[in-house]
Amino acid sequence: EPVRLKDYKAPDYLIDSVDLNVKLHPTAARVVSRLSIRPNPNGRPDAALILDGDGLIVKSIAIDRAAPADGVVVVSPQQLALANPPQRPFTLDVETEVNPTANSRLMGLFRSGSAYCTQCEPEGFRRITFFLDRPDVLSVYTVRLEASRAEAPLLLANGNLVEAGELATGEDGVARHYAVWHDPFPKPSYLFALVGGDLGSIHDAFLTRSGRRVALGIYVEHGKEPLAAYAMDSLKRAMAWDETAFGREYDLDVFNIVAVSDFNMGAMENKGLNIFNDKYVLASPATATDADYAHIEAVIAHEYFHNWTGNRITCRDWFQLCLKEGLTVFRDHEFSSDMRSRAVHRIADVRALRAAQFPEDAGPLAHNVRPETYYEINNFYTATIYEKGAEVIRMLKVLIGAESFSRGMDLYFERYDGTAATVEDFISCFAEASGRDLSDFFRWYRQSGTPLLEAASSYDASAGTFTLHLEQSSKPTPGQDHKEPFVIPVALGLVGPDGDLPLKTETDNAASAREIESGVFVLSTPQRTIIFRDVESRPALSILRGFSAPVRLDYAASEADLIRLIARDSDSFTRWQAAQTYASRLLTRAVADIGAGKSPAEDYDFVDALASVLTESADPAYAAQMITLPSEADIARDIGENIDPDAIHAARFGLRRAIGKGLSSHLHTVYARLAPDGPYSPDAAAAGRRALRNAALDLLCAGEPEEGAALASRQFASADTMTDEIAALGALAQTPGETREAALKTFYRRHAHDALVVDKWFALQAMLPDADTLSRIKDLTGHPAFSFANPNRVRSLVGAFATGNLTRFNAADGSGFDFVVEIVLCLDPKNPQVAARLLSAFKSWRTLEPGRKALAEAALRRIAVRDVLSADVRDIVDRSLG
Ligand code: ARG
Ligand code: ZN
Repeated sequence: EPVRLKDYKAPDYLIDSVDLNVKLHPTAARVVSRLSIRPNPNGRPDAALILDGDGLIVKSIAIDRAAPADGVVVVSPQQLALANPPQRPFTLDVETEVNPTANSRLMGLFRSGSAYCTQCEPEGFRRITFFLDRPDVLSVYTVRLEASRAEAPLLLANGNLVEAGELATGEDGVARHYAVWHDPFPKPSYLFALVGGDLGSIHDAFLTRSGRRVALGIYVEHGKEPLAAYAMDSLKRAMAWDETAFGREYDLDVFNIVAVSDFNMGAMENKGLNIFNDKYVLASPATATDADYAHIEAVIAHEYFHNWTGNRITCRDWFQLCLKEGLTVFRDHEFSSDMRSRAVHRIADVRALRAAQFPEDAGPLAHNVRPETYYEINNFYTATIYEKGAEVIRMLKVLIGAESFSRGMDLYFERYDGTAATVEDFISCFAEASGRDLSDFFRWYRQSGTPLLEAASSYDASAGTFTLHLEQSSKPTPGQDHKEPFVIPVALGLVGPDGDLPLKTETDNAASAREIESGVFVLSTPQRTIIFRDVESRPALSILRGFSAPVRLDYAASEADLIRLIARDSDSFTRWQAAQTYASRLLTRAVADIGAGKSPAEDYDFVDALASVLTESADPAYAAQMITLPSEADIARDIGENIDPDAIHAARFGLRRAIGKGLSSHLHTVYARLAPDGPYSPDAAAAGRRALRNAALDLLCAGEPEEGAALASRQFASADTMTDEIAALGALAQTPGETREAALKTFYRRHAHDALVVDKWFALQAMLPDADTLSRIKDLTGHPAFSFANPNRVRSLVGAFATGNLTRFNAADGSGFDFVVEIVLCLDPKNPQVAARLLSAFKSWRTLEPGRKALAEAALRRIAVRDVLSADVRDIVDRSLG
């Protein structure tokens, strides 16, 4: 039976405080938990008390410090039940034993290397001790940790350190020590964390605006301390930014971050003790790309921002996950935009949204931003909850304006601090702050699927009017056949030969003064027509400026209009989009030509437009985005059905080659002009120069394979940044043969000691379009640096193949599907979360041409017929076939 939002009931009991005493041990850690429990005045009187467990071994139980009579407590590894708990405050003591070394799911208490760490969101705390493991039970935690001093000189938990000291050496001759941590802020169990181990660290401090001195620590493997410097710098900038941008200040005396190499997700916002996948902490110019630096900055900020949006105000239940995740992604996007180029960031965010979220919304795994049922909550840490959740908030801001938005945020923080809230609570703050009725807007949370926005226009020269007709429609998604219209803010402008035209609309067509002034027209009905007057010549329509809503746009702009937008649009997003639209049109046509056995026609106007971008653009990072074609997956999405990945690959390669040839001299100039000069900087300007230079190299390699390879070889030999080194390797890898294999060997030799760099080496090979890629990957699974136990390794080899290699994963003989299925089945018993995540790569299988579609379905059915599957994989496979 699924869990349903409509069945939510307040807990019958509350747990005001939790005292944990944890004795760390590799195979038999002991956890003594003392819970102060009382009946919830808002719960059902005399209800049974059922605490969640997951694979726990119970050593002892006491109620009010005394052994309970027979039958009072019924316990199993999965549950601890009191049929008739005291109807007054009482304490429950439970001692459990867990085996951190055997914990391959990486949920609860586990080991990464020799260190002990925890992951409790969403339901991992029950793998440590029995609890009301749900986010609306908030408790004050005091945690005493005890360990061998040699094994774990470092002992961390949430909150502030209260006390620490040595213990008498035991009979086993082991010198032990302890530390006591207290977190004064009531929190749900999913925010609990502890770390024990022998780690190196760097330290700094942050002075909050009200004068609190916060000790900052980042803990990493010994020897890697210098690699944490950028993370520390990002953290301090995030702390300062949250004070000015959102008025949010940090609230404890310490803020610690621990980086571990075995982690299912990116990172976790445990109160005062964030735990990170080390790939989002460790960086040096020689080992991390500019993209890695940007991710570190974003994830460090994201987890820090959760301190308010997630921790101080948490979620009532897991259906409200977007309340903290969508909002926190929105906040980290804003932060990164302020730290870097807002224009370039917006493009990157939209590219990511379309790559990850649009296919989710278009396929069998589509779900609401605020889901209403689930079988396995771990499968809802999705692009829809995170990225679309952030887009919905961004739209809200566009809709009600920055000022009302900011007042709504303040109200939210003030009113719901210390509570477990709902999305309704959140939206009500903005309705109140703006004085607007947001009930229709709320449909973005209740309806899944990406709406289609169709626009059509006509120009009447004699009347000087431009008429714009907007229409929205939404296809059915699982469980939702019919949809109500969405409230879609459509930011737009009219672009003349010299740039933006003033907007004036007919007074009788209901465009509000506010709309005309802001250029944001709200489509809240199935269709709407807007007539602009005093338009002297046919304008080019610049629509969905800044990507003002997460919709698919269908507008038949003329190619001349697209060229005008590429040259003149004042909005940097739609200017970029015009180039993408143009490219997509050429590519879609080329795919059809290839399918019909014809060779695609060349288009010189597009190449000329890109030439002007290269000569005129002042911002290299933006120019790099302009000359980067839609990905193969982007093209597949634009085509939508009957997908032949090989034709898409051939079409994209053909256009890259045509651009590389046609722009040869421009690209050579750019490549030479942007050669590294001066000392390394990770900042956006320097990264932008590298991005454009490497985008030029990529096109040159397609257009002039020999000359390009010579440049790439030289760059590969002399690169002093990972950005340039991996770009050169990628360029060389385009052409099969000795040079490529030699470069791959060299790269491995240079970086064999650094697992995160070896991951890039795995991923690059997993994404090669060559026919023998799958056998290469199978060989690599036996490479000494590879391990199925480490999620980063699995993602970089198998994940990169399944999500980043359109042609080989979807190979016509089904071999790619079979391989991924085999890996999913072998991983499932060990780490179901990672297995389920891999399996979700099948989400677009129904869009494939009939042959491949049948093979994908057969592969999925081979999983579905298994008797023993984790809840995680069962849920994904059933919904995928659904
Ligand atoms: N709350 C974390 C973040 O987004 C993600 C944790 C997800 N963990 C999980 N096991 N699904 O920052
Ligand atoms: Zn998050």
